[in-house]
Amino acid sequence: MIDDSENTTSNPRVSNGVATISDIVNARLSRRGFLSGLTTLTALSAAACASTEGSQSVTDISKAENLNAPLFTFEEISRGSDSTHHLPSGYTGDILLKWGDALFPDSPEFDPHNQSEQAQLKQFGYNNDYLGYIPIKPEQNESNRGLLCVNHEYTSTNLMLPNVAGNYPDSMTKELCEIELAGHGGSVVEISEQDGQWHVDRNSKFNRRITAHKTPMEITGPAAGSARLKTNEDPKGRLVAGTMNNCAGGITPWGTWLMSEENFNGNFLGQLPEEHSESQNHKRYGVPGGWYQWGKFIDRYDVSKEPNEPNRFGWIVEVNPFDPTSKPKKRTALGRFKHEGAENIIAPNGRVVVYMGDDQRFDYVYKFVSDKAYDASNKAANFNLLDSGVLYVARFDEDGSVEWMPLIYGTGPLTEENGFASQADVLIETRRAADLLEATPMDRPEDVEPDPNSGKVFVMLTNNHKRVDSQVNAANPRADNQFGHIIEITEPDGDFTSTKSKWEILIKCGDPSSPAHGSTWNPLTSPDGWFGSPDNCAIDPSGRLWVSTDGNNKTGAADGLWAVETQGPRRGTSRAFFRTPVGAEMCGPQFTPDRKTLFLAVQHPGDEDDATFENPATRWPDFEASTPPRPSVIAIRNNTGKPIGS
Ligand code: FEO
Ligand code: CA
Ligand code: CA
Ligand code: CA
Repeated sequence: MIDDSENTTSNPRVSNGVATISDIVNARLSRRGFLSGLTTLTALSAAACASTEGSQSVTDISKAENLNAPLFTFEEISRGSDSTHHLPSGYTGDILLKWGDALFPDSPEFDPHNQSEQAQLKQFGYNNDYLGYIPIKPEQNESNRGLLCVNHEYTSTNLMLPNVAGNYPDSMTKELCEIELAGHGGSVVEISEQDGQWHVDRNSKFNRRITAHKTPMEITGPAAGSARLKTNEDPKGRLVAGTMNNCAGGITPWGTWLMSEENFNGNFLGQLPEEHSESQNHKRYGVPGGWYQWGKFIDRYDVSKEPNEPNRFGWIVEVNPFDPTSKPKKRTALGRFKHEGAENIIAPNGRVVVYMGDDQRFDYVYKFVSDKAYDASNKAANFNLLDSGVLYVARFDEDGSVEWMPLIYGTGPLTEENGFASQADVLIETRRAADLLEATPMDRPEDVEPDPNSGKVFVMLTNNHKRVDSQVNAANPRADNQFGHIIEITEPDGDFTSTKSKWEILIKCGDPSSPAHGSTWNPLTSPDGWFGSPDNCAIDPSGRLWVSTDGNNKTGAADGLWAVETQGPRRGTSRAFFRTPVGAEMCGPQFTPDRKTLFLAVQHPGDEDDATFENPATRWPDFEASTPPRPSVIAIRNNTGKPIGS
């Protein structure tokens, strides 16, 4: 999502100016955090530089030969920004899927000047974000044929629809809103590779569009059936049409796809009276955000008409992509917030652990641990694993430890006294429950990804220019954090279910040659290698970290993908691999198991300040005079057939 979407702060613990009781409690915490943050900061900087000789200048890479060889050997691309994408020499990027591409034999051909809901429902959606790859027959050729599961996070109204920008929002009609709704959601697409070229199989029985308004979904887990989830359309609180704002995600070991509902607040219009029982809850989530006009024409998106509808969004949705008729499940046990992603792993004791960020300034990092163990011998036995378990929220202490605090009704402050009558209430109001547990307000947690090889977990914190000096803490050490940072969590002995972990900062992003940025890179990083605003990430099949950005343009260069080293003397170096066209953000890094293909999602290309359908900042990737830019998925291969990044 474009960077400023999460710009506001709804966490009352850190609201500036208004002194609530929780502010006062927090002021104490912040003060303590600030004071010891300074000492920890010094200690951390020392630690970060210990292996890389902090006195080395940024450009002094002459010592590289004396150190361990770099993990990545591709030729780094240069910083910059222009109308198209860039790759290292020796690599080819084929456009695999574009917004509007036909997914079924009867899909209408793409005509952006005459788009309709019916056409969009059968075409690849808008603003591709998360990409998951699931081999269809893992026992055969796992890296040559698979299902690509793609989230379509949101629609860029002005770029997607002709003739609306000049007179927005009056130009919006019900029909146009329905096109937008059909462009949200996700796509399952069967793809295969032959002679280095990937193809979409339009005839696949697995192909599916999941949309914001039309796809029926079940609500499962502890909040299913709650009175607070009931609406006129769904008097039982168990069935909801659609999923929206699906940002990053995850693929489970049992072959399902987790879609994360992020900025759902933006979809709602209308006002509730202050005294309405849901009004404070909605406020904590920024509802109604008013980014879309849907509520003008469709009652469920107007909170004054359907006050409970927003409670039915903000969940993790599990999809079985191998059964296109299956109802996706909104898994309420994983909490309700602006879910960025749902990367997951099986812990040594067999429990499934899902790591999740709540992408808003001053919100939290979570993990879910299933009650039951994963059964590798019986795929179907795992289908409801995510319905029971414990949701934890993280407190990052100044001594470098993480306390994972359980959100369980009836324990600690999560009682009737504080307005929680059940676990359903705790989950519907996950943020308020986490506020009461005094979790650490973070600098916008995005993708959180475990590494099965090292037992480490990487947390992307994209930026937070709203943090002021008094709110600095050890894990969020910079006020006015324009460039974000990456935290590395170490789970003890690789036990991902642990409630006590260690943390340290891997990188403070920004320009290392500018002292004002206060960034910390390994000095072996070249001037092209540093970046700002880490967003999504991937651990490749060789256990190496790749980071994509959303907001690097603040540094004067386009968003893209960087390869980051996390171990040895080169820990904290980064190398630029891919650059998006102007106006785009980089999403979805996903490798095939043989690491020979890297799929990347280019989201909202051409979306600069005043860009419109008629006048976009680029017409990537078609570059045709009357075709608007199209969010697209690229399949990248090394021309020699070697693994990516080698
Ligand atoms: Fe959808 Fe957090 O970016
Ligand atoms: Ca993003
Ligand atoms: Ca990821
Ligand atoms: Ca982002």
